[in-house]
Amino acid sequence: MKKLFIKTYGCQMNVYDSARMADLLAPLGYAPAEAPDGADMVILNTCHIREKAAEKVYSELGRLKHLKEEKAEAGGRMVIAVAGCVAQAEGEEIVARQPAVDIVVGPQSYHRLPEMIAKIARGTGHALETEFPAVDKFDSLPDESRAPGPAAFLTVQEGCDKFCTFCVVPYTRGAEFSRPAAQVLNEARRLVSLGAREITLLGQNVNAYAGEGPDGKDWSLARLIRELAGIDGLARLRFTTSHPRDMRDDLIAAHGEVPQLMPYLHLPIQSGSDAILEAMNRGHQAADYLRLVARIRAARPDLALSSDFIVGFPGETDADFRATMKLVEEVNYAQAFSFKYSPRPGTPASTAARQVPEDVKSARLLELQALLAAQQGAFNASCAGRVMDVLFEKPGRKAGQAVGRSPYLQPVHVDGAGDLIGQIRTVRIAEVLSNSLRGAWLREDACVSEAAE
Ligand code: SAH
Ligand code: SF4
Ligand code: F3S
Repeated sequence: MKKLFIKTYGCQMNVYDSARMADLLAPLGYAPAEAPDGADMVILNTCHIREKAAEKVYSELGRLKHLKEEKAEAGGRMVIAVAGCVAQAEGEEIVARQPAVDIVVGPQSYHRLPEMIAKIARGTGHALETEFPAVDKFDSLPDESRAPGPAAFLTVQEGCDKFCTFCVVPYTRGAEFSRPAAQVLNEARRLVSLGAREITLLGQNVNAYAGEGPDGKDWSLARLIRELAGIDGLARLRFTTSHPRDMRDDLIAAHGEVPQLMPYLHLPIQSGSDAILEAMNRGHQAADYLRLVARIRAARPDLALSSDFIVGFPGETDADFRATMKLVEEVNYAQAFSFKYSPRPGTPASTAARQVPEDVKSARLLELQALLAAQQGAFNASCAGRVMDVLFEKPGRKAGQAVGRSPYLQPVHVDGAGDLIGQIRTVRIAEVLSNSLRGAWLREDACVSEAAE
C-alpha cells in the first residue's frame, strides 16, 4: 500500500472534497496516513478566503519540501499536490513559488487526479488542471468506499453567482450548480448504509439548491430535505451555508415540520449596516434579515442561530459598526464567526478607497467577539438542566467517555458512553463548560435503552 496524507483547510466543502479524493485514490493503492512523514502522496486541500488562510499553504509547502528531499535521499518519491481554492486562484504561480509542488488541481477538476499522477510518474515535470470542465466531476467520482463516521457531509450544490464584493468564492468555485436529486439521494443512502446517522448538506449557497428531480422538475432544498427525511436510519439533517436572499417559505416551513431537520441555522449577514450591505452587494438590508429571522423563529421557536460577520469592510464607519453591534443584540446568536476584512486579489472591494486601518479592524473585532461570546455563553448556560438527544461521534479525552453533538450543534461529552459511538441517546445537561457541555444519564439504565430510536 502507498501512503496518502491529505491536509484540509477552509470550509466543510473542502472536508467533503478531501474525503472524495481519498475515495478516488483508494483503487490506485493509496491508504490514508496520519502524518506527511514518508508519505508517497501529500495533498494540501487549500482555502483562499482570507490572506492568512492562503499564506499558511506556503509555509506548509516549505516544510513538505524537506520531507520530500528526505524521501528522495532514501530512494523514494513523494508527490506533492495542491488542491482546492488556492490552486484554482493561483495556478501556475504556486509551482513558481514552490518548485517542490508536482500537481496543482482546482476544486472542479480533482476527479482528474489519477491521470495527473500517471503523467508525472512518467516524467519530471508538473501537472496543472484548473479548468471548470463541462463533464460533471460528480459523475466521474467512484462511490464512497470508506465509513464516513456518524455525522457525514454531502455536497449538493457548488459555486456561487452572488459576487459579494469581498469574496473569492465565485472565482475559485465557479458558477452555481446543483447536483440532481437522485444522485444526492443515492449518495445519502450509501452514507447511511456505511454508518452515517446525520448528514449535513453542503453548498456555498445551499439554500439556492435547484437540482433536477426524478420527476424532471427542479427540486428546492426543502423538497430534497423532505425526501431525505424518508431514508431509514437517517436520524438528523442539517444544511450549510445559507444566504438570506434564498431562504424561501418552503424551507422555513420545513424547519417546523421535518423532525429530522435539526434546530440550528447558519445564516450569515456579514454586517448590520445597510450602507455596508449594499457596498458588499449582499442584496438585502438589515431589516429584511430581522424579518426573516422572526419568521424562521415562528416556525421553529427553539432554533439556534449562527452567522458570519466581517468587520472593517472598506468604508465602514463607527456608525456602521454600531449598526452591526445593534443587530447582533437584536438577533441574539447561539454561535457566530467573525473576521477582519481581508482584501482578496481580483475582488472589487480590494481596490476600493477608504480601506479601514488594521488597528481599527482589530478593536472592532475584539468588541464584536466579546458580545458574540457573551451570547454564546448565555445560550449554553440556558441549556443547563435541559434534556436533549446527543449523537455520539467520537471517543472523548477520558477513558469511557464519548463526545457528540446536541441538536444545536454544541459538543457534549458524556462518561460511560465509550461504546455508543454512532448512536443517539437522551442525556441531561449536567454542566456547562467554556467550550462544551457535559451530559449525564437520566437514569442508570438509560445507557442501554435506545432512547431516540
Ligand atoms: N457562502 C457563504 C460564505 C462563504 S465564506 C455565504 O454567503 O455566507 C465564509 C465566510 O468568510 C463569509 O461568510 C465571510 O464572513 C468570510 N469572508 C469571505 N471573504 C472574506 C474576506 N475577504 N475577508 C474576511 N472575511 C471574509
Ligand atoms: Fe462569497 Fe457572497 Fe457567494 Fe457567499 S454568497 S460565497 S460570501 S460571494
Ligand atoms: Fe475557502 Fe474555497 Fe471554502 S476559499 S471557504 S475552501 S470554498
